[in-house]
Amino acid sequence: MRIGILTGGGDCPGLNAVIRAVVRKGITVYGHTIVGFRHGWRGVIEGEVVDLDRETVRGLLPRGGTILGSSRTNPFKSDDGVERLQATIETEHVDALIVIGGEDTLGAAHELAEHGVRCVGVPKTIDNDLSATEVTFGFETAVQTATDAIDRLQTTAESHDRVMVVEVMGRHAGWIALHSGIAGGADVILIPERPFDIAQVCQRLQHRSRRGENFSIVVVAEGAVPAEGTMTLQSGSVDEFGHVRLGGVANRVTDEIKARTGFDTRVTILGHVLRGGTPTAFDRMLATRFGIAAIDAAHDGAADEMVALQCGEIVRVPLADAVGTLKTVAPELYELAEVFFG
Ligand code: F6P
Repeated sequence: MRIGILTGGGDCPGLNAVIRAVVRKGITVYGHTIVGFRHGWRGVIEGEVVDLDRETVRGLLPRGGTILGSSRTNPFKSDDGVERLQATIETEHVDALIVIGGEDTLGAAHELAEHGVRCVGVPKTIDNDLSATEVTFGFETAVQTATDAIDRLQTTAESHDRVMVVEVMGRHAGWIALHSGIAGGADVILIPERPFDIAQVCQRLQHRSRRGENFSIVVVAEGAVPAEGTMTLQSGSVDEFGHVRLGGVANRVTDEIKARTGFDTRVTILGHVLRGGTPTAFDRMLATRFGIAAIDAAHDGAADEMVALQCGEIVRVPLADAVGTLKTVAPELYELAEVFFG
C-alpha cells in the first residue's frame, strides 16, 4: 500500500512522534510506502509530496513542531479544492490518508471519506477539546509549560505584592487554564465555558488581600468571555482562514483589576510558547501509541475512523463522533477549582 500522512491546524508537541511511529511500523512491519504531504490539506491540493523513510524520521521523538509543516487550509473552502485533492491522490497512487489534526482538519477528513477518500484520523490539539478521546497529545506538554510559568510567576508576585494575570491558549475550552491553574495554585481561573463577572474576580482578590495574602495569580483562557453586561471586550481580527485571532482578554482583565482595586497588576501572555518545544514523555508515548494504531487502521482498510484514548486503551471511533461537538470542561471540574479561589 501507499499511505499518505499530513498534519493540519495549529502545531502541537508530539506531531513528529506520530509521524515517526507511522513510518517505522508502516515500512518495517507492513512493507508499505509512506509519503508525507506538506502543510496539511494544502499539500494534498497542490501535490506537494515528500518521501518518508527510516532516515527522515530519525531523531524526531524530542522535536517539537512538525517536519511536514502545517496550515489551516480546508479543501471544502475553495471551489476546486476537493477535485484537485482527489487528482493528487490518484496521480500519487495513495490508498489511504493518515490525517493528524483537530476539529477543522478532521472535519474535512470526515467529509472527504464521504467522497470516497479513505481517511484515518489522529486527534491532535493542545486545547484538548476533541470529543471521543479522553485526551489529545500535546495537551500535557502545554499544561506542564503553563504550570512551570505559573510557578515562576508565584515567586515574583510574592516578592512585589502583585497580582499576576496569565493568559493561556484555549479558544473554546478551558482545559489548559483549568489544569495548569489547579496545578499551579491559581487564585482565580477564567474559562470560556463559564462567563466571568469582573466585579466578582476583584472581590476575590480583595478578600485575599484583607486576609493578608499579598499576591494573587489569575489564570485566563484566551477564549474566556465576560458575563453579559459586565465588561466589554475588543473583537479580535480575523486570519486568512476566518479564525478570530484571540489573545487580548488578559490585557482587559489586567486593566480592570488595576482600575477597580488599585493593586499592582501585571500580565503575561503565554500564547504560542505553549505550542512549541519538546513534548513530555507522556505525550511522546501517547503520540507513539496513536501513530501505531493509525497505521494498523490504515493497513486494515479503515476509512472515516479516528484512533482515540478511552479508559486507557487505544480504540477506533467513527470520525463523526470526534468532530460533532467540542469536549468542554464539565461544571463539576470547575467547581473543584473554585474551592481554591479567593
Ligand atoms: O490549535 C488551537 C490553538 O492552539 C488555539 O488555542 C489558538 O486560539 C489557536 O490555535 C491559534 O492559532 P494560530 O497560531 O493559527 O493563530
